[in-house]
Amino acid sequence: MKYIVGNWKMYPRSFAEAKEIVTEIRPLARKAVQKGVQPVICPPAIFLSGLIGSGTALQFGGQNASAYGEGAFTGEISPVQLASLGAKYVILGHSERRALGETDAMVAAKAIAAAKAGLMIILCVGERERDSDGRYFAEVANQLRASLEDFPESKSVHLMIAYEPVWAIGTEATGAATPRDHEEMSMLLRRTLSELFGKQKGFHIPLLYGGSVDTKNAQSFLDAGADGLLIGRASLRAKDLALIIHNAVQNNA
Ligand code: 13P
Repeated sequence: MKYIVGNWKMYPRSFAEAKEIVTEIRPLARKAVQKGVQPVICPPAIFLSGLIGSGTALQFGGQNASAYGEGAFTGEISPVQLASLGAKYVILGHSERRALGETDAMVAAKAIAAAKAGLMIILCVGERERDSDGRYFAEVANQLRASLEDFPESKSVHLMIAYEPVWAIGTEATGAATPRDHEEMSMLLRRTLSELFGKQKGFHIPLLYGGSVDTKNAQSFLDAGADGLLIGRASLRAKDLALIIHNAVQNNA
């Protein structure tokens, strides 16, 4: 299965706009899933209940969740609550949340709680910048290990890893990484996951790429072996997201 995941961040401004995008994408989902492509939208959590339809192939996720199932935590949303709405995924450890102060230890606790709630975790890792000595490889491997501290091996089927180099994300990005960059990093991620969970389990965890993915470069990452894409800006343009899904379906023969 290839996963095409839209991370809408704190967009769009209104529920009506969110609904318009979903209305364009929903009809594509059934055929996509039949052809091995799973579209997933992670909108602002407040929009989830209005967007999740019953019995459709389009799936939804949150962009964050608490490390607790319930409790006196004003303003937080628990993974159990996300699951109760029908959300299947949650993005954890996104660099924009890490920039707000989220530590590896917090991400690790959230991951354990999300898996317990039955959600698929899209765990984001990525270096802030690249150096010519390749020290960024160790940075990412360490981040992955620390973000999965005490994560139970038996729950590894709930994990997906998104490699999102921070320098490639958003409007300030210097550009996307290359498919070759993703391939190289995937080897390291696989090795690290195999060390954590054993070869068999480690090799089954999907590895996604995210950072300035658009209609022009999306397919090149999938062709180079990425198990999916985590898409920011382009996923808010319904036509672009539809084209990326369409191309993935055509090429996933
Ligand atoms: P952009 O695709 O807008 O660069 O954002 C990437 C991202 O952060 C997805 O999680």
